[in-house]
Amino acid sequence: MTSDYWNHNVHYHPLVLNAVPDGCRSALDVGCGEGLLVRKLTQRAQSVTGVDTSGAMIRLARERSAGLGGVTFSEADFLDAASGGPGTYDFISAVAVVHHVEFEQAVSSMVRLLAPGGRLVIIGLANNRTPQDWIIGAAGVPAARFRARRHGGKTDPDGMPLRMPDMAWGEVRREAKRLLPGCRFRRHLLWRYSLVWDKPADGA
Ligand SMILES: C[S@@+](CC[C@H](N)C(=O)[O-])C[C@H]1O[C@@H](n2cnc3c(N)ncnc32)[C@H](O)[C@@H]1O
Repeated sequence: MTSDYWNHNVHYHPLVLNAVPDGCRSALDVGCGEGLLVRKLTQRAQSVTGVDTSGAMIRLARERSAGLGGVTFSEADFLDAASGGPGTYDFISAVAVVHHVEFEQAVSSMVRLLAPGGRLVIIGLANNRTPQDWIIGAAGVPAARFRARRHGGKTDPDGMPLRMPDMAWGEVRREAKRLLPGCRFRRHLLWRYSLVWDKPADGA
């Protein structure tokens, strides 16, 4: 197991890992990239699947995770019904991926894949639109510089597919509250939000 590094997404991995319910059997990381979070999730779940549409990322993820048990990588689109049956996973994470696709479609696909009583955690990006958005965004600059220095710099894996977000922070919050009643939405300093939602045990 190789290649630990730091960037604005990796910074929120502890939040994701702390949200994994005890006794989690099956976890899914959608848009897993080169698989760093999948490797970390093996400490919290019996089996972990990483899916990504990028063949290059999946090859790298398999290479970097060689010899690690309980891990499966699949070159697949998580929006595609073939990526898993309904209720397959106790835990689903999506870090910096939801803005690559249409928000409502992304959320409903993950809700479908999540088992009743399971937990969904999204770490996402959004756009500044209001003056308040810009002020909070500016406050992130010194915080990010300080943390990058502590971690020996910021590293983004080579060839990682990137995209700029279209939705504003307020829009994401509104849509999340509408689609995932009872979800906990928080905006964080390093230009990310977190969204934690527990699927009702009756599957409703
Ligand atoms: C910005 S990268 C983030 C990767 C990783 N989660 C991380 O935090 O380092 C977004 C990833 O999502 C993947 N992706 C985009 N749309 C996808 C989809 N519909 N299904 C699966 N993966 C997707 C991209 O190929 C890319 O690897």
